[in-house]
Amino acid sequence: MNKDNLTTSWGAPVGDNQNSMTAGSRGPTLIQDLHLLEKLAHFNRERVPERVVHAKGAGAHGYFEVTNDVTKYTKAKFLSEVGKRTPLFTRFSTVAGENGSADTVRDPRGFAVKFYTEEGNYDLVGNNTPVFFIRDAIKFPDFIHTQKRDPKTNLKNPTAVWDFWSLSPESLHQVTILMSDRGIPATYRHMNGYGSHTFKWVNAQGEAVWVKYHFKTEQGIKNLSTDVAAKFAGENPDYHTEELFNAIEKEDFPAWKVYVQVMPFEDANTYRYDPFDVTKVWSHKDYPLIEVGRMVLDRNPENYFAEVEQATFSPGAFVPGIEASPDKMLQGRLFAYADAHRYRVGVNHNHLPINRPLSAVHTNHRDGQMRFDSNGGGSINYEPNSFNGPSETPENKQTAFELSGFADSVSYDENDHYSQAGNLYRLLNEDERTRLVQNIVDAMKPVLKEEIKLKQIQHFYKADNEYGTRIAEGLGLAVHQEV
Ligand code: NDP
Ligand code: HEM
Repeated sequence: MNKDNLTTSWGAPVGDNQNSMTAGSRGPTLIQDLHLLEKLAHFNRERVPERVVHAKGAGAHGYFEVTNDVTKYTKAKFLSEVGKRTPLFTRFSTVAGENGSADTVRDPRGFAVKFYTEEGNYDLVGNNTPVFFIRDAIKFPDFIHTQKRDPKTNLKNPTAVWDFWSLSPESLHQVTILMSDRGIPATYRHMNGYGSHTFKWVNAQGEAVWVKYHFKTEQGIKNLSTDVAAKFAGENPDYHTEELFNAIEKEDFPAWKVYVQVMPFEDANTYRYDPFDVTKVWSHKDYPLIEVGRMVLDRNPENYFAEVEQATFSPGAFVPGIEASPDKMLQGRLFAYADAHRYRVGVNHNHLPINRPLSAVHTNHRDGQMRFDSNGGGSINYEPNSFNGPSETPENKQTAFELSGFADSVSYDENDHYSQAGNLYRLLNEDERTRLVQNIVDAMKPVLKEEIKLKQIQHFYKADNEYGTRIAEGLGLAVHQEV
């Protein structure tokens, strides 16, 4: 087989890739060894900034197949017919660790899916938990600062973590999930995925409903005990990445059944929880799961950097028939991701093969760094125009909805942070409760201020008396709810 010639990036053949050019065999290196200069300079620029959160992850290609008719709820074309398949790319991740950190830590897992639909890319950027720690985007940078490294010690700081949580009681539900067995999935294949937020689906008649997505693993839920996870973190920090890759390589393709809960549009005004509050679930009894389809992952990336690192998922990448809800977290995310992508990958990130829609793209955006396609050639780049340029399609406008009230900085009206966390505690069996309590006690022990522990314990009490009592006892603190 003929080997390719090694070349420089400008395509010229390289004469020597082992010895740099020097002035005499013992003299200094010559600046005219342009291959050497290019090699060193390119190497210096190999890293792009890692994702500010969810830096460590693994990705895989696959497809989505519709298994149930949901056209009465949405006009999204990729959901229009039973049996219809849409290619997709999925990335799973941890949240707080750096790129290179251990996979088997106690942390939510990102569950991001990019559907390459015929109407553009639809990204669902969820987690393996149905709720989140906070419910207003304005708190996100502060929250993440407590999850990342301390500015002085550069160490993880449990005092900051519990200080923030104890002062943000809306976090209790997610803290309970995180500290439960599901806080450390056995693999990326053995966990569910949730869109977490409420989204709006709109049908061909323009009628809207609210939906929540659930991806249920067909492999079954499996988790790692804290001890085994710690062992893996030391012995094979890339365990989840490796496990997913190997399963797909062996053609043991992981799959998830995809469901939605559907809430009639008007119910949002009367439901007992604010349906846009991402710290709450909708009871399955109130809104049962409706099957939509099946996601299968059947192909590993060929190149990690090109496909996984450069993948850009945005909760704002919607297609007709799927829209945002007024969830205050989601609203912040609509801005944050595309902004991060412009910084992390570049303004033209959507031209990269992994992000490029399969459908035709006709924007009036031009130029910018790394515009590596034909940049629209000589085509018209403004609208309106008299030259038959691409034009808007009014049938694809987002649905209008009525609003009233004052522009103001206000919290959700709903401030019951305890019932659902308590419901979850009560749903666990005795062994699961014991492990949950132990995990919390171990995590809270290093907190430096007793006042923070006492504040947090009150939240556990308010969720469930037994829950609070067991944690207080585990920490050797005598507290009761009224303290
Ligand atoms: P349901 O009995 O209808 O739902 C309970 C759900 O809890 C199950 O379907 C399962 O969701 C989930 N679950 C079971 N064990 C665990 C665990 N160890 N850790 C986390 N989740 C678990 O009751 P409700 O809908 O009224 O919910 C009760 C509580 O269940 C909620 O307060 C919430 O904390 C939790 N939950 C609810 C979900 C929902 O969408 N309603 C989703 C996940 C958790 P799944 O099969 O999706 O994993
Ligand atoms: C990644 C911001 C809440 C799931 C990111 C990134 C940012 C970000 C900037 C990095 C994006 C990139 O560089 O490509 C925020 C903000 C939030 C928020 C501002 C709150 C206002 C959430 C919530 C979820 C979530 C609630 C899940 C329900 C994810 C996932 C990724 C991610 C899965 C990784 C995506 C990937 O694999 O590329 N987030 N986030 N985030 N976030 Fe969030």
